[in-house]
Amino acid sequence: MGVILDIKNLNQKTILLSEKKTILQSLAENNIDWMQACGAKGRCTTCKMIILEGEEHLSPLTESENKFLVQQRLKPHERLACQAMPLENENIIISVKVPKIYQLPHIEYQD
Ligand code: FES
Repeated sequence: MGVILDIKNLNQKTILLSEKKTILQSLAENNIDWMQACGAKGRCTTCKMIILEGEEHLSPLTESENKFLVQQRLKPHERLACQAMPLENENIIISVKVPKIYQLPHIEYQD
């Protein structure tokens, strides 16, 4: 199986995450549109995910995520898709949802 990302408010879409790749890279490989205003440089927070389950299976916060946390632009249980990657390659499900403010206008989200 591997590490599965379950995007709850996107029709519960599930994708397999690649090891040593950011979640944003895996989303792109699976043709899932995701907001990324700074081009995955960790500067904008628009690729933010709310982590509902499985947070402990993600890589530690990066320097830019820690900076946003201090600035309160990132809350606990939120991660940047362009920074976080799966820690291990086991049979795990990481559940997330796309925050309302960063939902893309051409996609229908459930929440
Ligand atoms: S795309 Fe800008 S912080 Fe991730």
